[in-house]
Amino acid sequence: TTNKIALFPADDLPEGEIRAETLPNGDVIAVYNVEGTFYATQDQCSHGEASLAEEGDLCGKFVECSWHFGTFDVTTGEPGLTPCEIPLKTYRASVEDGKVCVEY
Ligand code: FES
Repeated sequence: TTNKIALFPADDLPEGEIRAETLPNGDVIAVYNVEGTFYATQDQCSHGEASLAEEGDLCGKFVECSWHFGTFDVTTGEPGLTPCEIPLKTYRASVEDGKVCVEY
């Protein structure tokens, strides 16, 4: 089964910003506002131990991990620039009643 949780008001995360959240199942995720659309991936970079919410910079739909400057497409989780090679786990995100929700 799929669970869904409302995390925070959509207005709290401006365009181009990232924030970390912990889901009830213990997964730590990064939530991104890409030009008004919200996406979510695992928070930990798949190359190292970096938190993408803390260490990442969002540029368009790509997050750049500041540890080694690898990138991911946050809309799909696919790796972009090296050294990132392993896709990120993604979570379906939506806005309902003004709140950002994710499925897990
Ligand atoms: Fe993220 Fe190396 S830890 S690119």
